[in-house]
Amino acid sequence: ISSGDERYQLEFQELLKTLPKEDGWKSDFLYQHQGFWGQPRLLLSSEACQKQFQAYDTDVLLATQPKSGTTWLKALAFAIANRKRYALSSHPLLLSISHKLVPFIEHGTSNDEVADHHQISNNYPSSQSQRVLSTHLPYASLPKSAKTSACPIVYLCRNPKDTFVSKWHYMSKIGSEDFGSLSIERAHDLYCRGVSLFGPFWKHILGYWEASLESPKKILFLTYEEMKEDTEYQVKRLAKHMGCPFSTEEENKGIIQDIIKLCSFENLKKLEESRENISIKDDDDDYTVFYRKGVVGDWVNYLTPQMAERLDQVTKEKLHDHGFPM
Ligand code: A3P
Repeated sequence: ISSGDERYQLEFQELLKTLPKEDGWKSDFLYQHQGFWGQPRLLLSSEACQKQFQAYDTDVLLATQPKSGTTWLKALAFAIANRKRYALSSHPLLLSISHKLVPFIEHGTSNDEVADHHQISNNYPSSQSQRVLSTHLPYASLPKSAKTSACPIVYLCRNPKDTFVSKWHYMSKIGSEDFGSLSIERAHDLYCRGVSLFGPFWKHILGYWEASLESPKKILFLTYEEMKEDTEYQVKRLAKHMGCPFSTEEENKGIIQDIIKLCSFENLKKLEESRENISIKDDDDDYTVFYRKGVVGDWVNYLTPQMAERLDQVTKEKLHDHGFPM
């Protein structure tokens, strides 16, 4: 069945009427289904993904919450997996944002496209030795084969205060005129109550954290802050987990540093801005919104002490008190 199936759509409309509903971050509503929040289209395509998506042992699946460093992780993993295939001078990352190279398994812009998209990702070019795929789905909602196959999973987690601030900026940029009504105070209240895409944020983090403790060989748990602090060390861990560790020869040749430079915030932002300026793109979307500041701790410039304290309290109660150490 595809999510475009008419009977399925009707059943889904009926189901929607029974789900918890909240004002969204844009002029939309979010519904809670399977424990996470999303717009109807997203919930529908996520269900279709769970039913249709087939993971292979050779895949790697990158999992994140929105605004926790997905664009960076995708670029790094793609560059690592394809390092023997592309020279740096003609690398696909020079031409496209990493989101175009590493698809989200649950995405579809229309219901029918979900099925198409899955077909595309299931027919990933065979010359590509490893499919690098991504998801924002919580661990509990992953398609079964992603959990049961040998496909390694990498989770990237980010400090909730920075994730929130990044998200609020992003939503203000992509929102249409009617978005103007979402103040940072209101967004903060929604976020602290767990109402954000794929949220509650703490449930998302805990799901992958607990699964990584149970199956450390299957799930590598990374943090944005550690990636920033010692990128080389974390990139080596990432490559090893993906099943393609760097050889001593590669290390000596400086391949790791080359990949880090290619995927650095400054470089990717500059590349995207130049593509935007000269319009060498195959669509009208402005991807520069994925690059804002790329630093740790920027929340101090936006959250009042009271807002920071409330978010800290939620993080403590929902994460730290459940054994999450960071
Ligand atoms: P800020 O808004 O704090 O700057 P996502 O990719 O999940 O949408 O997350 C976006 C966040 O990651 C933004 O954070 C963005 O600036 C940052 N980011 C994007 N590319 C990056 C890179 N190459 N290195 C570090 N951070 C990056």
